Amino acid sequence: MANMLNLGILASGRGSNFQAIIDEIEAGSLPAAIKLLIVDNAGAYAVERAKKHAIDYLYLDPKASPTKDAYFSAMALELKKRGVELVVLAGFMRIVRKPLLDAFPNSILNIHPALLPSFPGLHGQEQAVRHGVRISGCTVHFVDGGMDTGPIIIQAAVPVSPADTEDELSERILKMEHRIYPEAIRLYAEGRLHVADGAVEISGYEMHDSYIVNPPLGNRK
Ligand code: GRF
Repeated sequence: MANMLNLGILASGRGSNFQAIIDEIEAGSLPAAIKLLIVDNAGAYAVERAKKHAIDYLYLDPKASPTKDAYFSAMALELKKRGVELVVLAGFMRIVRKPLLDAFPNSILNIHPALLPSFPGLHGQEQAVRHGVRISGCTVHFVDGGMDTGPIIIQAAVPVSPADTEDELSERILKMEHRIYPEAIRLYAEGRLHVADGAVEISGYEMHDSYIVNPPLGNRK
């Protein structure tokens, strides 16, 4: 496919979002190539997925770097070496530091299992259940130096039942994560995302480009 976008994926764990991206690429519906998976945890299941799909991977041990900045410099170097254009955080459990942000300006994405700016940080789903919100969801956003801050690209809403456990809500949200993450990458690959004043504009904007509501609004009697 022409004009393929070169991706670098960062993960710490199971990598189901990484898998969703792999699946869309293999199905021919995402014009991208995964150049490298980097994990910060030697036991991350994401590595098994990389092996299965013949994707280059690297374990970078955070303890082997003298400082956090040095760790992210090393990471930037490995990604640049392979021609990565967009860095995709897929369950990567660290705050990204300046050397990587500087190397990839407005070119690092994250997915978070809540409707930001509500419930940032760990356990977004548990926070939603505890607060008794009626709607939660997930958010894909550009990464800045903060914790789940940064300009929002796409959100998906899911209903929350008062009877939900954290696991049940997590599972419902995860299904939507797997839909909106490849979609956000596609919008980036098409050159349609522009950051202005801390917000994302989508060129050729259609309402459905940047949100999904499940079930759709207006379907209920
Ligand atoms: C997802 O819930 C994502 O929103 C959060 O971490 C989890 C990663 O899951 N950032 P997986 O590793 O992609 O399965």
